[in-house]
Amino acid sequence: MKILIINGPNLNLLGKREKNIYGDRDFESFFEELKNKYPKIDLEYFQSNHEGELVDKIHEVGFSYNGIIFNAGAYTHTSVALADAISGVTTPVIEVHISNVHKREEFRHKSFLSPVCKGIIVGFGLDGYRLALESFVIN
Ligand code: DQA
Repeated sequence: MKILIINGPNLNLLGKREKNIYGDRDFESFFEELKNKYPKIDLEYFQSNHEGELVDKIHEVGFSYNGIIFNAGAYTHTSVALADAISGVTTPVIEVHISNVHKREEFRHKSFLSPVCKGIIVGFGLDGYRLALESFVIN
């Protein structure tokens, strides 16, 4: 089973950025732990701060991988292009947010991606990525 985790803008700063919201763990060490927990899954990770690169990556894997776990960061609330990319591929996408976006500013309550994703997981910290992975494993 091939699964790709995609993180969007500013998520390269996890562990350094607004620790009160996103925690103090960097994503790379979390990702290594996740790979060790699920050794049978071919798990990959991609991060970009650029919307077009995120679109390109979804196109690249979106007809062959079994699942995409996607935290689009702030593009969640703005990007028709990413929503169209998700709609345009056959691989199911699970939207993840580390923080509970619904507890935060109003502009974070709107997601252009949720209507075209298989499901959404918000507010469980980094564990949200594991929960999304688990759902691909059991389904
Ligand atoms: C986020 C929530 C977004 O609103 C924000 O812009 C992020 C991170 C989250 O994981 O909680 O960059 O996607």
